[in-house]
Amino acid sequence: MVEYGSPLYIYSHGQIVSNWQKFDQAFGGHPHLICYGVKANSNLGVLSVLANLGSGFDIVSIGELERVIAAGGKPERCVFSGVSKTKTEIHRALELGILCFNVESAAELDSVESVAKLMSTKAPISIRVNPDVDANTHPYIATGLKENKFGVSIDTALALYKKAEHSQHLDVFGLDYHIGSQITEVSPFIEALEKALELISKLKAEGIKISHIDIGGGVGIAYNAEKTINIEQYIRSVLDKVGDLEVILEPGRAIVGDAGIFVTQVEYLKQSGVKSFAIIDGAMNDLLRPSLYGSYHQAIAVEDNSKGIKDTWDLVGPICETGDFLAKDRELTLTQGDYIAFMSAGAYGFVLSSNYNTRPRVAEVMVSGSHHALVRKRETVSSLFENEFIFNDEIN
Ligand code: LLP
Repeated sequence: MVEYGSPLYIYSHGQIVSNWQKFDQAFGGHPHLICYGVKANSNLGVLSVLANLGSGFDIVSIGELERVIAAGGKPERCVFSGVSKTKTEIHRALELGILCFNVESAAELDSVESVAKLMSTKAPISIRVNPDVDANTHPYIATGLKENKFGVSIDTALALYKKAEHSQHLDVFGLDYHIGSQITEVSPFIEALEKALELISKLKAEGIKISHIDIGGGVGIAYNAEKTINIEQYIRSVLDKVGDLEVILEPGRAIVGDAGIFVTQVEYLKQSGVKSFAIIDGAMNDLLRPSLYGSYHQAIAVEDNSKGIKDTWDLVGPICETGDFLAKDRELTLTQGDYIAFMSAGAYGFVLSSNYNTRPRVAEVMVSGSHHALVRKRETVSSLFENEFIFNDEIN
């Protein structure tokens, strides 16, 4: 901590590796590809660990694809998801030779086809279906209900596959869905899988062959010892149903979530009699999840501090917003200068951070046994306005 400063994200190399291997091993000899959901944590250090394992990647922008390549990942192991891929992005992805586009609308299919035509090539595609299942998760991260913006209905998918099958510039490859994130029970996944498999049979009857099924990400983790999905059991129930279809999955949170912590330091303690605040140096701009989704992260005092003040604290940041809290009502014994670690912050932590209140984004460190190394240096204040210009209002 002293070496890298506070606040700080710290990742465990060993935990990332073992989380990835748990998914990989659950498949046994069944053909599969784990495409890590890059959006959960796109740090080059993290991506390079996964690239070394031979992981595939689920990307949602050309920026993420360029990151994967910079980290040593292979484009031919990348699936490209997201509701709106621009023609420039499609062009670059085809140039780099990605595995598959997960297409989310009729209009997007037209774009992919037209770019492939311009490049005199064939674009590999899956259609992302929206199976209309309730994943029973936070509304902001549910994606598989018909009122969500993602994917197309099963009926539309059928029509799009027929169109793609007849195109000289589209190569029908797979079928894709992703029903949401932080899902803690297997049943919605199986409901979605059954609907997808039904569609695959219909396609087969039409002479359209699907060679892989992409079952998305979404496996939830335990933020507060709650019950969640047993990965082996989940994969076993998938394999029981898919026959010899290759399975692609896109876990993000379940690979990096519990492999990261966010460490902050107590600046001031403020007890009003009504409420007790521990004002820490980390804020909503560094770890947005509690403010945005009301998410829970365990908060642990890094050192045992029996001399401190025992109280029920709200852990708040220095930002000028009442919504700037990282945790509420936590019983902790604290003194000024103590370090507090927010647990399971490896997914959707740093990636959602911003420079609000002109706060430089924090450093990120990877630890492996006794070895530790910076994987992103702390931003400086001057770097924050490097791309801004004074406006000369004397010119008319
Ligand atoms: N595939 C697609 C197409 C996705 O949209 C996502 C996540 C994933 C895979 C990875 O899902 P995971 O395995 O990580 O659940 N910011 C929110 C989570 C947003 C998830 C967005 N999509 C949070 O902090 O909880």
